[in-house]
Amino acid sequence: MSNGQDHTPYVDALLEFAQSDPGRFNVPGHQGGIGADDRLHLLAGQTGLADDIPALIEGIDVGDPNPFQEAQQLAAEAWGAKRTWFLINGASQGNQSMCLAVAHMGGELVVQRNVHSSVIDGMIMAGLKPTFASPEIDPDLGVAHCLTPEALAEALDRCPDAAAAVVVSPTYFGACADIPALAEVAHSRGVPLVADEAWGAHLKFHPDLPPSAIDSGADLVISSTHKIVGSLTQSAMIHLATDRFDEAIIDRCISMTESTSPNSLLCGSLDAARRQAAINGERLLTETIEVLAEAREEIKAIPGLDVLDERLLEAESVAGWDPLRLTIDVRGTGSTGYHIAELARDLAGVNLELASDTVAVAVFGMGTGTPQRARRLIDGILTALEAIEAEPFSEKPEFAPPPPWGDPAMTPRDAFLGQQEVVPFSEAEGRIAAEPLATYPPGIPNVLPGERLTRETLDYITDSVSHGGYVRGAADRELTTLRVIAE
Ligand SMILES: Cc1ncc(COP(=O)(O)O)c(C=O)c1O
Repeated sequence: MSNGQDHTPYVDALLEFAQSDPGRFNVPGHQGGIGADDRLHLLAGQTGLADDIPALIEGIDVGDPNPFQEAQQLAAEAWGAKRTWFLINGASQGNQSMCLAVAHMGGELVVQRNVHSSVIDGMIMAGLKPTFASPEIDPDLGVAHCLTPEALAEALDRCPDAAAAVVVSPTYFGACADIPALAEVAHSRGVPLVADEAWGAHLKFHPDLPPSAIDSGADLVISSTHKIVGSLTQSAMIHLATDRFDEAIIDRCISMTESTSPNSLLCGSLDAARRQAAINGERLLTETIEVLAEAREEIKAIPGLDVLDERLLEAESVAGWDPLRLTIDVRGTGSTGYHIAELARDLAGVNLELASDTVAVAVFGMGTGTPQRARRLIDGILTALEAIEAEPFSEKPEFAPPPPWGDPAMTPRDAFLGQQEVVPFSEAEGRIAAEPLATYPPGIPNVLPGERLTRETLDYITDSVSHGGYVRGAADRELTTLRVIAE
C-alpha cells in the first residue's frame, strides 16, 4: 500500500513544532516539560513531554487542509473508508458516538446481546430502545461466538423500526462473523450495519486474514486501533464506509463525546500506527502468523491443552478466524483458565489478556509474534501446569446454561436516570434492574438496566458465583445488594 502511506503528516508537524524551541505560554501547564515533576519526566521522558502539544496550533491542526486532517485522510485511504475520525477515548467513544448518531435516524436499534458495555452506555446516552439478537454460544467452551444472519433477520423482524443493527466481529476469541451476509440481511430491510471491529484493525493488512468489516459491506466500523495494531492505549478510530450514515452527524456526535483538549501523543500514535500497518503490516503479520502457527502446534502437543484454530469455522456463526489471538483450551488439564493465567502471572511474570473457566487467551500485536516471545508464553504456561500438577485434586464445577433474559420494562436510559433504590440481592425478584449484571463465563449480560429481574436469573447468578464465576456490572461487587428502580 503506498499513495503517501509512508508519510506521517501529523507526527511530522508535532515533531517540527517541538523541535522549533517554541515559546510555550499555553497549555498544558508543564509547557513542554519545564514544569513537570521529576517522576513525570521518568514516566513520559523529555521527548514525550515536548511532544505533548495542545490543539489549535498553526501548522498542526489549524487551516484547511492541515496535517491533522491529512493524517485522518490517510487512515481513511488505508482502511478503505469514506471518512475516518481519530478517537482519543477508545473504541468506547466510537460506540457512544455511533449510538448518538443512530438516535438521529430513529429511536430503536437491533444489537447483538454481548456487545461491549460502551454500546449499552451509548444507548443510555442516546435514549435508544434495543432489540437484542443472541450470538451463537459454544456450549462446550462456554464462550459466545458471532451472530448468524438468521438471528439478525429474526431480531430485525421483531424490530421493524430499527434505525441500525450493531454486530461484533471479531470476538475476543478471534471468531469473525459473516459480515457480507449480515450486511445483506440488514440492507435488504433498509437498515445500516454497524460492525464493532474493536479487535480487528489489522485484518485489512494481510491477504490470509479474514476480510475487514469495511471490505465486507459494513456501513460504519468501530476500530480499537490500540488493541492489535499498536497505537497508544486509548487511541482508536471510527470509519464511515457508505452514505447510509450522515457524515456531519457523526462528526457532531464524536465532538460531543470528546475532550476539547485531544492528546497529541494519542493522535500522533494513530498516524504512526496507520503508517506501520500500511507499509509494514503485511510483512509483520506474515511473521506473527507463522510464529503463532508453530506455537499452536507446540501447545496442542502438551497433554491437557488444545487451542482454538481453524476448527472454529465449524461453528455456524463463524465465517473466519483471526490467528492473532492465541486461545488455549485448558479443559483437559482439570483446571481453569483463570487459575492457569493466575499461575503464569505469579510464577513466570507472563500476563495474558483474558481467561475464563475453559480458556486462557494471549493476544499478539501486529508485529510482536517473534519466536522468543512465543517461547516465553509457552514456558509460562508450562510453569503454571507444573504447579497445578503439585496441587491436590479438586472437582471442577459445571456451569449451567443461562436462563432467558428478563422482560424489558424500561429503556436502558429511563432505568439509568430513574429514581433508584438499593435492595438486598435476595429480595430483588420482580424489580426492574438499574444496573447491568454479566456473569463470566461467558460474559453475556444476564441483566441490563431496564429489565425485570427474575428468580431464575438471580438463582443462576448466585450459582455461578458460588462455582467460582464472577459478575461484572453491579456497584456492589459482593452482590449482597442490587440497584433497582424505586417503587
Ligand atoms: C468488542 C469491543 N468493543 C469496544 C471495546 C472498547 O474499546 P476501548 O478499550 O478501545 O475503548 C472493547 C474493549 O475491549 C471491545 O472488546
